[in-house]
Amino acid sequence: MSESMHGMWSSRLMFILAAAGSAVGLGNIWRFPYVAGENGGAAFVLAYLVCISLIGVPIMVAEIMLGRAGRKSPINTMQDLTVQSGSRPGWRVVGWMGALAGFMIVSFYAVIAGWAVAYLIEMASGTFNGADGEFAAAKFTSLTSNPWTVVGWHTLFMAMTTFIAARGVGEGLEKTVKYLMPTLFVLLLVLVIWAAVSSGHFMEGLSFLFAFKADQFSTDSVLMAMGQAFFTLSLGMGAIMAYGAYLPKSASIVSSAVTIAGLDTLVALLSGMVIFPIVFANGLEPSAGPGLMFITLPLAFGQMAAGQFFGTLFFVLVVFAAITSAISIIEPAIAWLVEKLDSSRVVAACVVGGAGWLVGIGSALSFNTWSDLTFLPGKTFFDSMDYLANNIMLPIGGVLIAAFTGWALSEKIFNEQLADVSVGVRAVLRVLIRFVAPVSVFFVFLMTVFFS
Ligand code: PHE
Repeated sequence: MSESMHGMWSSRLMFILAAAGSAVGLGNIWRFPYVAGENGGAAFVLAYLVCISLIGVPIMVAEIMLGRAGRKSPINTMQDLTVQSGSRPGWRVVGWMGALAGFMIVSFYAVIAGWAVAYLIEMASGTFNGADGEFAAAKFTSLTSNPWTVVGWHTLFMAMTTFIAARGVGEGLEKTVKYLMPTLFVLLLVLVIWAAVSSGHFMEGLSFLFAFKADQFSTDSVLMAMGQAFFTLSLGMGAIMAYGAYLPKSASIVSSAVTIAGLDTLVALLSGMVIFPIVFANGLEPSAGPGLMFITLPLAFGQMAAGQFFGTLFFVLVVFAAITSAISIIEPAIAWLVEKLDSSRVVAACVVGGAGWLVGIGSALSFNTWSDLTFLPGKTFFDSMDYLANNIMLPIGGVLIAAFTGWALSEKIFNEQLADVSVGVRAVLRVLIRFVAPVSVFFVFLMTVFFS
């Protein structure tokens, strides 16, 4: 099939912007800095870079390849490729698991993104000017402890996401990434320059990220780094597979995957270069945890010259990044509904967006009404979704995708999809996809289950 029924990206560049839009998100700006901060900085960054190259890029190549070979939603793509390759029907479960993981991810993703919208407005209206630590912490608690406000912001974010998704691949997804992604890169560069010029602690921030100290290297940082590589590249649940289905035949998969992973890594590192100098300039702790972005940063912005303006830019950046990711999290399920029920894109988007919103209420209430309710032992609904999706479902999805592509997919399809690269590059990729990626991911998975 040369075209997908859902539409196509108008060029390779648009695919790259869309996939980079999916990859670049809260994982880069909110999660990467605080996880790096908690795991010793440079040691974690090094492990993360290794994981991106050895596991992330090969699995991304695999996902794009499967998507483009099938040209349907991940569920039906897996179904068709299984039949075409004469492999066992069990492989189809990859598509279903991915759609399920998508609902789990969007449920907590939309809640955090909703907070970012709230902070954007607070920042712009000068709430944090001159604020002290107590005020910043109280503000965060007052936002999250009121169920109505959390659900309200979460609803607004899901509504925006659903609206874009409903407009379809060309008018919705592509138009959004076409404008938001370049803006995002410009905003980020402006912020890095601002942090470099005005914080007075840029070098300290840099050395925290890049000055490797062997004594800070623990097994745990490696595990966290692997998990982060997965989540940040949107791998293991079919988001990139769904986007691959809309990629023109002539575009190179390998160079696209390398570009997307490169952009994603760049954004994570640049976000660190904005956040850590500001943290050090204000004598704050890099290991503040998930609150780093919502408590520490607003406080720091409130203390700095022109902080209101740059703080507002920062949260605009976060919201843009979150939206271009959220639309990709629900795309696999939307595409499947359209195929299955022959329903319109608008109906499918509303059903999937609505279902994601509903599950998200559980995550929203985890910070207030349901804060004592545990689902997995000792974990609120929000924590359970985050844990199950990121530590279990994405790794399993990733192992299965790599294993299917390496072992079960017909060699003809594999070679056709990678026809633009040399035999040598194909051979290396085959080894990475067959052995290196699945074995390492499996290893992460076991370690995560047994040691966390
Ligand atoms: N990669 C996104 C981020 O870093 C999150 C995401 C995960 C998006 C899985 C799609 C699929 O924020």
